[in-house]
Amino acid sequence: MKRYLIVLSLLVFGCTLLSYSYASADAAKGEAIFNDLKAGNCKTCHDTGEKRKVGPGLKGDTTRHSKEWLVKWLNDPQATWESNDPDVLDLKKRMKKEDKPKTAMKLPGKLSEEQIANVIDYLDTLK
Ligand code: HEC
Repeated sequence: MKRYLIVLSLLVFGCTLLSYSYASADAAKGEAIFNDLKAGNCKTCHDTGEKRKVGPGLKGDTTRHSKEWLVKWLNDPQATWESNDPDVLDLKKRMKKEDKPKTAMKLPGKLSEEQIANVIDYLDTLK
């Protein structure tokens, strides 16, 4: 009985450790994408604090938007901008761009689903 308990607790401990290292690896990959200035990525236009650069500072942004919305936005900022969903209307108001047909967020290329998930994991650490 005692041996089973030891095996069980080792298993639980192992899984916790594994899921933790997976999560931080993803955020680390996301951070690298975010900071890739050569590729003209996020950091070119975004501060990780609250200061505005070309776009808003992204501290706490994962509490402002749902993950689903962030996926949509990072997949296609222009189409999302045109959708005028509640998050976009709020963003337009904050940026004072209610009358702008185009977003100023231009990505250097299309991000893969995995890259988007990693970047969102990274944004989640900026609380
Ligand atoms: C060329 C500049 C530029 C780049 C590069 C860029 N953004 Fe943006 N981003 C903006 C602007 C500007 C806005 C606000 C919308 C607008 O004014 O058109 C914005 C808005 C956002 C928002 C919504 C913020 C809020 O407060 O609601 C998020 C999240 C975001 N960007 C994430 C990213 C990520 C992640 C990347 C990199 C993969 C990135 N952006 C790359 C300019 C940029």
